[in-house]
Amino acid sequence: MNADIRQKFVVGNWKMHTTAVQARQLAQGVIDSVGSDDHLTVIVCSPFPYLAMVADILKCSQVALGAQNMYPEAEGAFTGEVSPTMSLDIGCSYVILGHSERRHTLGESDRFINQKVVCALAAGLNVILCVGETLEERTSQRTERALDRQLSCGLTGIPAEALLRLGIAYEPVWAIGNDEHHATAEQAQEAHLLIRRKLAQIYGEAWATRITVQYGGSVVPANAAAFLAESEIDGVLIGGASLNAREFLQIITAAKCAPRAVMLPA
Ligand code: PGA
Repeated sequence: MNADIRQKFVVGNWKMHTTAVQARQLAQGVIDSVGSDDHLTVIVCSPFPYLAMVADILKCSQVALGAQNMYPEAEGAFTGEVSPTMSLDIGCSYVILGHSERRHTLGESDRFINQKVVCALAAGLNVILCVGETLEERTSQRTERALDRQLSCGLTGIPAEALLRLGIAYEPVWAIGNDEHHATAEQAQEAHLLIRRKLAQIYGEAWATRITVQYGGSVVPANAAAFLAESEIDGVLIGGASLNAREFLQIITAAKCAPRAVMLPA
């Protein structure tokens, strides 16, 4: 049986941070020292107004560009929204969907997120689909139920072949940008195992081993290696620490040194 290894991902989500000058410096700082690694994908997701400028800086580098959101239509009367075709047009190859801040602060439903996943993949973008339980769900033992619901709704209508362009990010809501509540690498590994089990239920064992599942939630240089050493953690989605090129690069170095998981042929 042919075995291949799963790619590792390091994704910087700049959220609603940076000025144009800072975004330029940050992107330049990352590409100046990132180096290359065939088994590592580095992505930065800048705010919409700076995407085109950042795309220009990343142009000849190994670093890919992602959007932080999109509207699930190619074009139309949707004031203030950005379509996947527009993001592709200016150089994005990825989009983050279902981020907890969009689910919980902006009230996006599982169904709406699914529409975005379907539309993004159809348009040609690669998708990072975020899932994760709230503190209340975790303390009332409903983590698995929350992940199951977000995955089955989020992936409705997505055929197995499309999974080659889709990764999951497990981001427990209680651990994002939070100095008090940190997930341990073991807690993250446990949740990743639940996610992979659910993916196996939907798509079968072999496909489930092919999907990358990243971890996100207060990942910093000091804890990145511990998360990345876990067999089910295929990368990290970084918020705060991605705003500092030096810290982001330290996390990239940790990812380069991390073990890779084997995937089964589909
Ligand atoms: P954080 O954000 O690293 O600041 O916790 C992660 C995220 O929201 O993607």
